[in-house]
Amino acid sequence: MPLCSFSKRRPHQHLLRSPSLDQRRPLVTLRLLLLAVLMVLTLVISLRFALLHQSFSEPWYKAPELDFELTNNKIPFPPKANKTQKTNMLYEEPTHNANRSPVPNDTAPAAKASADDSNIQVPRESHKSVSPYHNWELFSADLQEMLRNLKIFVYPDISMNESSSLFARIFLPHPNPFDPKLGNYFSEHMFKVALLQSSLITPHPEEAHFFFLPFSINALRNDPRVHSEASISEFVSQYTSRISQEFRFWNASEGTDHFYVCCHSVGRDAASKHHDLHNNAIQVICSSSYFQRLYITHKDVGLPQVWPRPHERVLNPPDARHRLVFFAGRIQNSNIRHQLIASWGNDTYMDIFSVSPSFSYEEGFRRSKFCLHVKGYEVNTARVSDAIHYGCIPVIISDYYDLPFANVLDWSKFSIIISHGDIPHLKKILLSISRQMYLGMYHNLCLVRRHFVWHTRPRDYDSFHMTAYQLWLRRSMHRLSSHTLT
Ligand SMILES: *[C@@H]1O[C@H](CO)[C@@H](O)[C@H](O)[C@H]1NC(C)=O
Ligand SMILES: *[C@@H]1O[C@H](CO)[C@@H](O)[C@H](O)[C@H]1NC(C)=O
Ligand SMILES: *[C@@H]1O[C@H](CO)[C@@H](O)[C@H](O)[C@H]1NC(C)=O
Ligand SMILES: *[C@@H]1O[C@H](CO)[C@@H](O)[C@H](O)[C@H]1NC(C)=O
Ligand SMILES: *[C@@H]1O[C@H](CO)[C@@H](O)[C@H](O)[C@H]1NC(C)=O
Repeated sequence: MPLCSFSKRRPHQHLLRSPSLDQRRPLVTLRLLLLAVLMVLTLVISLRFALLHQSFSEPWYKAPELDFELTNNKIPFPPKANKTQKTNMLYEEPTHNANRSPVPNDTAPAAKASADDSNIQVPRESHKSVSPYHNWELFSADLQEMLRNLKIFVYPDISMNESSSLFARIFLPHPNPFDPKLGNYFSEHMFKVALLQSSLITPHPEEAHFFFLPFSINALRNDPRVHSEASISEFVSQYTSRISQEFRFWNASEGTDHFYVCCHSVGRDAASKHHDLHNNAIQVICSSSYFQRLYITHKDVGLPQVWPRPHERVLNPPDARHRLVFFAGRIQNSNIRHQLIASWGNDTYMDIFSVSPSFSYEEGFRRSKFCLHVKGYEVNTARVSDAIHYGCIPVIISDYYDLPFANVLDWSKFSIIISHGDIPHLKKILLSISRQMYLGMYHNLCLVRRHFVWHTRPRDYDSFHMTAYQLWLRRSMHRLSSHTLT
């Protein structure tokens, strides 16, 4: 997304007004004066540019000074609350404060003009630095454009019935995606259900931007004829080959405008037996990790793993959250969780459990300020969206998780991201977050909640539209006309 916006104002327009004719005599003096002022201005502006340039050539994301050691100082951390310090570095972008600049006060307007007109992206309005969006205006306008124009074609297997196709169940939308047994795969099923109800679908493949391969990895996993990971990738490969034989659209783009959706961990390898499927087609996938062998960052799309929870109409307000942090989860398969429990399992300040606590899972999210998402076998679990659902600030301990919608949402404005190596500092990091900072994050969390909700019939800005928007950003590849025009 283009994020820069440049001011159209020119700096010295007010200096270029010509004097009236009956002022000829003072005109020469005035001109000389103007010339002198202009020269000073030019000097000041170039000095200013040099300074800006210098400060940008240094790593501006440098972590603030902390009174303990970090193992990964590239990640900006919340600094200790300090009332005399103006900034909370986690939430404020770097600004070029006139007080810090050596430019003298009498030339302050010129200094301001040069900052306004520079081609360097300098956030100017303070509200921008607290928004959970990188650029709400651009995003919302583009999403509306998407709703008017995006077209998706679904291969007809989706409408086969059990008497016409042996594998109909693999392709049909799930009859009851809200079944709690499907919880972890809810997003996979709901994408399909919502797509079929949406206005984005087209029966005319010629006008489609994208082609949906409607197999469900979760359904393949539960089908005794397929079941194993090896058989699933075999099935998916054969299905894709069949699509490329029977329809001309695959060959027209080598699959680049085709996609499938998967929220099951065994789906990681689903595309492994079809070269163009994993190289070209778009995976919309919950386990979106930079370390995943077949996950290609920027091509593939991170899908939020959402658990179907009853609507939480009223959130527990910040001041009614008396516990600092909550986590409950099994620790097998996860060294990170082992480490977490070993470090903090006995801490009376923190509710961190590897067994069921004495209160309910939901209660844990409702009564706590922060809720941990700790990597299990995969980078993703439903805990991030659970935390968002219950109004608890997510603390994400899952290195190299390609967070959903990160090109639209600025996760640092409503979550805390901590590297695995900093688990020993967890308590200190959370206690260092000021009340003001926390309230800002809580406010932002309320704003982004609607993006982590699925509806049978999609609504503006819900998970379906957010995911479709990710496809929209990846549209417009060339197709071979010999394949599309016949
Ligand atoms: C707060 O910040 C100011 C300015 O950076 C510094 O001089 C002061 O020592 C800090 N106070 C504490 C308690 O860290
Ligand atoms: C510049 O202005 C600020 C506030 O406007 C003032 O505190 C400061 O003393 C001034 N500096 C000089 C060098 O005049
Ligand atoms: C199943 O699909 C076939 C062909 O699409 C159709 O002729 C038949 O009526 C359908 N059967 C049922 C039970 O819907
Ligand atoms: C697409 O290409 C494959 C391999 O080159 C070929 O076997 C297949 O027939 C082509 N499909 C169509 C519809 O022409
Ligand atoms: C936590 O408490 C249990 C039971 O008292 C004990 O066995 C364990 O060693 C303690 N863990 C730590 C990290 O102190």
